[in-house]
Amino acid sequence: MKALDRKIFQVLLKYTRHSSNNSLSANQTIAVQERIKEKRKHALLGGGQKKIDAQHARGKLTARERIDLLCDEGTFCEYDMFMEHTCTDFGMENMKFTGDSVITGHAKVNGRPIYLFSQDFTVLGGSLSSVHARKIMKIMDQALLVGAPIIGMNDSGGARIQEGIESLMGYSDIGHRNVVASGVIPQISLIMGPCAGGAAYSPALTDFTFMVDNTSYLYVTGPEVAKSATNEDVTHEELGGPKVHTTISGVAHNSFKNDVEALLQIRNLLSYLPQSNKEFPPIRSCTDPVNCDIPFLDSVIPFNSSDPYDMYDIIYAIIDEREFFEIMPRFAANIIVGFARMGGRSVGIIANQPKVVAGCLDINASLKAARFISFCDSFNIPLISFVDVPGFLSGTQQEFSGILKHGAKMIYSIVEATVPKLSVITRKAYGGGYATMLSRGLGGDVNYAWPTAEVAVMGAKGAVSILYRGKNNIAELENHYIDTFGNPFPAAIRGYVDDIIEPRTTRWRLIRDLELLKTKTVNHHPKKKHGNIPL
Ligand code: HXC
Repeated sequence: MKALDRKIFQVLLKYTRHSSNNSLSANQTIAVQERIKEKRKHALLGGGQKKIDAQHARGKLTARERIDLLCDEGTFCEYDMFMEHTCTDFGMENMKFTGDSVITGHAKVNGRPIYLFSQDFTVLGGSLSSVHARKIMKIMDQALLVGAPIIGMNDSGGARIQEGIESLMGYSDIGHRNVVASGVIPQISLIMGPCAGGAAYSPALTDFTFMVDNTSYLYVTGPEVAKSATNEDVTHEELGGPKVHTTISGVAHNSFKNDVEALLQIRNLLSYLPQSNKEFPPIRSCTDPVNCDIPFLDSVIPFNSSDPYDMYDIIYAIIDEREFFEIMPRFAANIIVGFARMGGRSVGIIANQPKVVAGCLDINASLKAARFISFCDSFNIPLISFVDVPGFLSGTQQEFSGILKHGAKMIYSIVEATVPKLSVITRKAYGGGYATMLSRGLGGDVNYAWPTAEVAVMGAKGAVSILYRGKNNIAELENHYIDTFGNPFPAAIRGYVDDIIEPRTTRWRLIRDLELLKTKTVNHHPKKKHGNIPL
């Protein structure tokens, strides 16, 4: 046999031997396939039918049902379905669940990629094992690499008690990634069950936290621990329910009636946002005219300057298609913030509400606005303010609680913001309130005043009481002050507002300005590691 033939013969022999082994391998292959099928079946069932029924009985969807509702149909691609915890303490070696207590992967929402995790309460209460944490970390790392938002559906009893330090470490690793991802990709948390300890801190580090009424709680520790620490008797709802966090603490940005509404609203929110800080938000085609006057706006401000009116009327009249995704609607209602579109472009709206505390800025309003402004700036969303503000709220309650330090956060975030900043003074623009609401001095790019604007250090009453203490002709002096300052001219004469405009023209002017300012770049900030925001 020639050398080459011998070689071919040897290869053929090897192949034949191999294929005779293949009949054995085929059986093994079938066994593996069966095992895969079995494991997948287990994974899809989570903690089992009984636990799923209990989840439904509480008015909650399962982790997988939530994913189905959030994502575009058929786009979910799951990672790590076969991972299992490795704990052997407390008999855990006999308590394995395929995929453990979280489902992770990527999908599309409104045709764009997102990464997600959905904690499965039916598996050991959705508690966080080290494997659970590693699954979340993997998708967080990928979301950062790809530049896509990350959505967390939280329903977890917190660190898995049986794993001790391993699960605590998992929370630290996730928290670390939340901070690294901050300002790079949008991070959105949905609280859809109890979330205690680490399970609550990670959402608090994300950009937005939304809750579900009646089924979700957020707290450092639950009522039992609170009782032992402070001797308080409180229910889950009273300690960390949606009402507390959307009206008192401001930890949550809104709550929704049920899981379905919450998930659909997150899809809506995502439509306003870019995929990452490297992109601009998507532009949506707009059916509302972009160059029309809106006559209604000419008569919206009451004749009497101290009468309230509803700022929502102005916002809804000016934005596209009356679609406003409001952030924190039930917290600090004296300021309104939220996402809208102008001529199809996403914008962040900040507006004083004269109907609540006359639209004064207080601590809660400052915190609410500062964080929103900071988010918009991180993700290239232009800011528009509608200004009717009598100033910062005074008095001992506000001073003792640090209005100066908290108001400064709002000033800081506005100056730091390099996105286009546009403002419209509808009526009062007094004192620090004027300066703060995107004024020219804090870097406003376009500043308009309506004919009803009053730009001054303070209102007539306060000013006259200081300037003319002890005088008798107070009414006359107040009228003189109003004549002098109760109009837009002092600001317009000095160029602090760019124009006094007819209210009806506001929409098309702002759309035109946004188009012009889309190429705005700011590069004059001195080099620094990071600023020192007054935290
Ligand atoms: C392991 C847990 C668990 C946990 C719940 N389970 N929490 N297993 N570790 N942390 C299990 C329960 O044993 C039960 O298992 C199942 O999940 C459902 O729990 P239930 O208590 O029956 O449900 P429910 O009555 O609805 O109460 C839910 C709950 C409660 C409010 C979440 O379980 C609870 O208070 N859990 C502990 C919360 C907590 O304090 N976590 C630690 C936080 S400290 P079976 O087998 O019966 O179904 C923390 C530190 C982080 O997270 C630090 C970060 C730096």
